[in-house]
Amino acid sequence: MKKVKIGLIGFGTVGTGVVKLLKRNKELIAEKTGVLPVIEKIADLDITTDRGVEIPDGILTTNINDVLNNPDIDVVIELVGGTTYARDFVEKALKNGKAVVTANKALLADCGEDLFNLAYEKSLDFYYEASVAGGIPIIKALRESLSSNNINTVYGILNGTCNYILSRMEDEGTAFDEILKDAQKAGYAEADPTFDIDGIDTAHKTIVLASLAFGNWFNMDDVHVEGIRGIDLLDFKYAAKLGYRIKLLSIIKNTSDGIEMSVRPTLVPADSLIGSVHGVYNCVWINSDWLGNSMYYGQGAGEKATASAVVSDVIDIALNLKNNASNRIPAFTKGTRFKGLLGEENSRGRFYLRIQLANRPGVFGEIATVFGEYGISLASVDQKEIDQNKKMAQVVVLTHDANQNSLNSALEKIRQFDEAGKNIVVFKIEDFE
Ligand code: HSE
Repeated sequence: MKKVKIGLIGFGTVGTGVVKLLKRNKELIAEKTGVLPVIEKIADLDITTDRGVEIPDGILTTNINDVLNNPDIDVVIELVGGTTYARDFVEKALKNGKAVVTANKALLADCGEDLFNLAYEKSLDFYYEASVAGGIPIIKALRESLSSNNINTVYGILNGTCNYILSRMEDEGTAFDEILKDAQKAGYAEADPTFDIDGIDTAHKTIVLASLAFGNWFNMDDVHVEGIRGIDLLDFKYAAKLGYRIKLLSIIKNTSDGIEMSVRPTLVPADSLIGSVHGVYNCVWINSDWLGNSMYYGQGAGEKATASAVVSDVIDIALNLKNNASNRIPAFTKGTRFKGLLGEENSRGRFYLRIQLANRPGVFGEIATVFGEYGISLASVDQKEIDQNKKMAQVVVLTHDANQNSLNSALEKIRQFDEAGKNIVVFKIEDFE
C-alpha cells in the first residue's frame, strides 16, 4: 500500500475536520484507491487546545519548518488562510518539492497564477478543490469533467454564511447581526466575517471559477462586488410578493462583448433551482455549449464539507504520486479564449428598484419620464403607502432588460428629486431564461 505523508499547516476548524476524516475513513480510502494518506506533522501556533480528536505524540508542532523542511512529507495542506504567511508557506513547500493542497481562495485570487507557475516549473501538484463551494467538487467539474465544453454562464451561491443569513432573514424576519453570530458559532464564517458579508469571499471564489472557465487568471479589480450588509427586511417581503428571493449571487457571463463578472444581492425566482438553495448550502449552475445546463449543489462551508474537499485533493495527489503522474491534471492552464472584460457599466439586466417618494400627485409621472429619457422600460410598478399620514410612499419598480450605465444615469437624476434622496434600493434580477 502506497503511503503518502501529509504535513498540515493550520489546525483550526477545517484542519480538525481533515484529521478526523482521515482517521475515520482511512480503511475506506485505502480500499477504494490503494493509497494511504498519513498525517506526519501538524503545525499550528496553538497546539494545546483540545480539538476533540486524539493526536499521537510527536505530530503536533509550533515550528513550521518541521513541515516545510521535513524530507518525509510528500503533501503540504495549507489551511492558515490569509495571503501573507500562506503565500510564504505554499512557495516554500513547492520549492522544497512538496505537492500542495489549499482551501485558500483569498490566496488564489491574490497570486494564484504565480503559485501555479511555480508548481508547474517544479512538476508538482497544487490542488484547491476546497477553495470554492466547500464540499461540492466544482473545481474538478470545471477543470476536468467539462474540459470539452466552452463555458457560457456560471451562476453561484458561493458563501454559506451569506446564504444562511439571507435565508433566515427571509424565513424568520430575524435581524442580520443575530444571525451572523450564529453563523460564526457554527464555524461557517471567515475569521474576518466582513469578507463574507461584504461579498469579498464570494468574489475570490468567482475569480477562481471564471479563471478556470476562461483560461485567464483574473483578479479583484475585474469583479464588481456588492455585499449583503444593510439589506432591509422589507425587500424580502416585496420580492416574495413578486415571486422572488434575494440571494448573494456570483455571476459570470461570456457575452459577445466580453466577460461579465459580478457579486451582488440578486432577485432570483423563488421557484427556480437556485432560488431553492437555502441555509449554508451552496450551488453552482453552469451553462456550457455542449452539455447545456448542469447544476452542482451541496454544503459550502464548515468543518465536514471543506475537509471532504481537502481530502479528495490529497487522494488525487496520492494517486498521482503512486503512478508517477504529477501534474497529470494541471492546476490551471492559460488559454486563448479570453477576449476581454465587459465592465460593469456595460452590463445589462432587469432591475428591482424601491424608491421612496413624497406622496403627491404627479410624482410618479416625473420618475417615469426620467426612465423614459434613458430608454428604460418598466415591467411593473407597485406603489405602497408607508406612513399613517400618507405623506410618503414607496414605489417598487421592475424594469425590462436595461443597460447598467443608463440605469445609473436615470437614478442619478431621480436622486436629485428632494423626496427620493438616497432612498433608492437597487437589485439586479436574474430570471435564468
Ligand atoms: N466563509 C465561507 C462561507 C467558508 O461562509 O461560505 C467557505 O469559504
